[in-house]
Amino acid sequence: MESSSGHMDNLNNTAYYGKDLAFVHDQGHSQFAKKATKVIASLMGENPRAELLVDLGCGSGRLEQELAESPINIIGVDYSAAMIELAKQNSPETKFLVESIYDFQIPQCDIVCSIGECFNYLFANKGDLNELKDLISRIYNALRPQGYLVFDILTTEILQTSQINSKVIEQDLWTIFLSVNVEKNESILTRAITLFLKDGDHYRKSKEVHKQKLFKKKDIEEILIEVGFRVDKMDGYDDLPFRSGQVGFLCKKDGEC
Ligand SMILES: C[S@@+](CC[C@H](N)C(=O)[O-])C[C@H]1O[C@@H](n2cnc3c(N)ncnc32)[C@H](O)[C@@H]1O
Repeated sequence: MESSSGHMDNLNNTAYYGKDLAFVHDQGHSQFAKKATKVIASLMGENPRAELLVDLGCGSGRLEQELAESPINIIGVDYSAAMIELAKQNSPETKFLVESIYDFQIPQCDIVCSIGECFNYLFANKGDLNELKDLISRIYNALRPQGYLVFDILTTEILQTSQINSKVIEQDLWTIFLSVNVEKNESILTRAITLFLKDGDHYRKSKEVHKQKLFKKKDIEEILIEVGFRVDKMDGYDDLPFRSGQVGFLCKKDGEC
């Protein structure tokens, strides 16, 4: 059954990050969110009065879990119901919502983060620059003065690297076949994912196709500055470098508290 947002209600049948892929992402990729948490924690240290952090594309809530002892309130938003189900287990005290970040009404807050190329995914949006600009300006307006936006995004620079490749990832519990293609004219990267997840003495197969819009680094920077942010670029979170084509932005809203 499909909901009004285009979402499949059955967790196993979600079109994006269904139950099995959400599980594998949670088990295999939580390191990225954990490293990003170090950046967020240092921003919170700068502003001990920070009350609310909004995590757009929170996935399985590993960042929230890392910050469980901190005094800041967090709202995590993700399009995948299966991810949010895991997030509620990983961080039971946090408020999590199943919603598109492009529809979510961002409340007044002190830090917004979006970790793991969430702005690129074409799950519930067209992926044009105006849409991204609208989201970034809504984030700017929601942030209190001295607030921060932290995110990473996949740029067209990946087209100049050899990182666009198909591969097989084998672990004890799962095997993933990744087939990656790029429509260069449209700057759209397509990742076809076939997953075999061990379930007892057999493997369950699932398939997902994720499309990501690649943005030009210069366009993103221009939008951030036009909207009013002071912008620094990052090449990784903590000691974990980004992959080629991925860029991080640390953006500050100036003004008196
Ligand atoms: C690579 S995962 C990263 C998850 C998490 N931030 C982390 O670092 O572990 C990308 C996440 O973005 C979410 N996502 C992508 N597009 C979205 C959208 N339009 N609205 C909400 N969530 C979205 C996906 O469901 C997925 O959980």
